[in-house]
Amino acid sequence: MTKTTLRRRLRTLETRPPNAWRETGSNARPNLHGLLRYPAMMVPCMQGDIIDIILDHKSQPSCRILDPFVGSGTVMTEALIRDLDFTGVDINPLAALVCEAKVAIDAGADIEGAAQTVLSALRSDIYDAIDVEFPGINKWFDDESAVNFSRLRRAISQVEDKGARRVMWTVFAETVRLCSNSRTSTYKLHIRASGDHVDANQVLLTFDTNLRQSLMRVREYRELIGTRKTKRPLVRIICGDARKAPLKWNISDHQILVTSPPYGDNQTTIPYGQFSYLAMRWIPEDDFPSSDAKRLMANTNALDAVSLGGTVRGAEEKETAVRATSQHFDAFVREAERTDRKLAIRKVSSFIGDFADVLNHMRSSWAGTAHWVLTTGNRTAAGLTVPFDAICKDLVTKLGGKPITSLHRQLPNKRMPLRNSQGAMITTETTTVFEFS
Ligand SMILES: C[S@@+](CC[C@H](N)C(=O)[O-])C[C@H]1O[C@@H](n2cnc3c(N)ncnc32)[C@H](O)[C@@H]1O
Repeated sequence: MTKTTLRRRLRTLETRPPNAWRETGSNARPNLHGLLRYPAMMVPCMQGDIIDIILDHKSQPSCRILDPFVGSGTVMTEALIRDLDFTGVDINPLAALVCEAKVAIDAGADIEGAAQTVLSALRSDIYDAIDVEFPGINKWFDDESAVNFSRLRRAISQVEDKGARRVMWTVFAETVRLCSNSRTSTYKLHIRASGDHVDANQVLLTFDTNLRQSLMRVREYRELIGTRKTKRPLVRIICGDARKAPLKWNISDHQILVTSPPYGDNQTTIPYGQFSYLAMRWIPEDDFPSSDAKRLMANTNALDAVSLGGTVRGAEEKETAVRATSQHFDAFVREAERTDRKLAIRKVSSFIGDFADVLNHMRSSWAGTAHWVLTTGNRTAAGLTVPFDAICKDLVTKLGGKPITSLHRQLPNKRMPLRNSQGAMITTETTTVFEFS
């Protein structure tokens, strides 16, 4: 297929987006996509459709998919379904654990057996001990709930295979999300109203329901991939900072980078760290695919502070560097400087500077042919829209990428608790496809 055909096919998606991209609820997140409700997940079939078109076109016979902000592994799952080698990076140990759980499912780990081990251990556990201790545990878990979470923790710890155990921790994390005293309507840690606490009896029932649904999802996924005729795809999950993650490529690979970066710094957009904190405090440190998990769960802000834009230290230098590269960022700063919102500007500068470092690192790790697919949202800061989509275009173009098409998708507002500090909602996302030849 020629480049012109590739562009035409992508532009057809732009003018006539498939109905499936508008699905919401469980239809939108089939098989492994729905194991854990992670913030700001991508639309799986949309990314899959774009990958399929690029696969038809790529110049090299072999390729590797890369997602430097892999989150819960939406792109990874779409890559695995297509038998494609994959590298994913995320700074969040819970995200990396969930991805490793999905890899274990793909690799054929005995998940039904692990579920039986957990359920039978639960039946015989009559202890009332609370097995973890951390600051604020009594605020987020009533004693009776903590006893039940401890039973679940002991039961899961009995599963011998690490991959299968990580699947159980994923089910556990979803149970923590639903049953702790933190509201489910926001990703921030925010105490529920007193009449709204989940009854302690619900903990084990919710886990049981989640477990059964997860087993169905595992079966659905395994039916979908069937028996592989070729060898299993090679998957690498790196739990670390995308600005310096060690990436290795085969000289003959075509790189397909598909990702959705955060909308801005975690504190004023989505606090992935706060979202993950409670589950992380319950899961044994050794089960995280990260040597840094203990430090990153030290307090509710630790992970958010090391994520992109997590500190305003050095914001001025970052701002100067990016203004020289991106005319849209430069225009934003000039407009924003008319307001007195200095801290808001520094936060945006720090985030954009860190993000530019990720793009530079990704390109300097791979000089061959590539397609990059970036899904971004434009947040508000200092009372102004931050044109992140246009800034991305400037930055990638400077690195030698050529924008081919931009697809716009309306976000289903009801499920987007993405209020930023100014209270404005992010209502659309833009997916831009770039080509490096
Ligand atoms: C929009 S989410 C990705 C969601 C993912 N596409 C999905 O469907 O689940 C952005 C991710 O970037 C991660 N992140 C933030 N700063 C990072 C950094 N410096 N290095 C790597 N990942 C980072 C966050 O932890 C979060 O998981």
